[in-house]
Amino acid sequence: MGCQPNCKIYHFKKGRVIRKQRIKFFLAKILTKSIKVWPSYIALSLIRRRCKIQLTTKMLQNISKTIQRESPCNLLVFGLGNDSFLWSFVNSKGTTIFLEDNEKWFQRATKNSKVLVAHMVDYNTRLKDWEIFLENPSLLEMDFPDIVKSTKWDIILVDAPAGWGKGPGRMKSIYQASKLVNRPGHVFVHDCEREIENIYCNTFLKEENLKTEINNLRHYYFSS
Ligand SMILES: C[S@@+](CC[C@H](N)C(=O)[O-])C[C@H]1O[C@@H](n2cnc3c(N)ncnc32)[C@H](O)[C@@H]1O
Repeated sequence: MGCQPNCKIYHFKKGRVIRKQRIKFFLAKILTKSIKVWPSYIALSLIRRRCKIQLTTKMLQNISKTIQRESPCNLLVFGLGNDSFLWSFVNSKGTTIFLEDNEKWFQRATKNSKVLVAHMVDYNTRLKDWEIFLENPSLLEMDFPDIVKSTKWDIILVDAPAGWGKGPGRMKSIYQASKLVNRPGHVFVHDCEREIENIYCNTFLKEENLKTEINNLRHYYFSS
């Protein structure tokens, strides 16, 4: 047939594309696996872009390195996000639990996953009432599943609930992090450029425990 020479070129080009894709896939697999041994900036940056994670690569690296240093550890995360798989993966030898308050998002995020262990929680707060809660810390108590209450959490990441607009605010998650964290232990809080996160962190996690700040992510360390 007249088209045969073109077909040869087509198959040659197609083969090259497939080979390139296989190499890319292979490299991506190696890079992803490598973060368990060493959370390199390049690997995390690729994962961040692919998974559309909001935390910056520097933040992901700082948290990943802390998890690795403490591994195997108990990691509690306030909020399911695009980064959830990463935390479960980096802490695969330990226990990782996520707490989520948005039912729809909870169903969507956990639907096809056997890896993520997540529980629904109810904050029952409104951001605009933050001053009332600050004056009455007993109102910041909340109900958790038994596993959350009985575990000593080596690392806690607070990136939920919604801390803007009509959201519940992070008053309870920050307060509870200060109570649930193991001694020694680490607490990371995102979005600390916001007034309420800043006030609650200063009140309950305290400046003397502040280890580092990466833009608006604070890392607190509590010694034993
Ligand atoms: C601020 S996000 C966490 C972001 C994550 N740490 C990241 O870097 O990608 C946490 C909260 O946002 C909500 N959320 C996260 N991803 C969402 C999505 N794709 N669609 C709807 N809600 C989402 C959930 O209610 C969750 O508790």
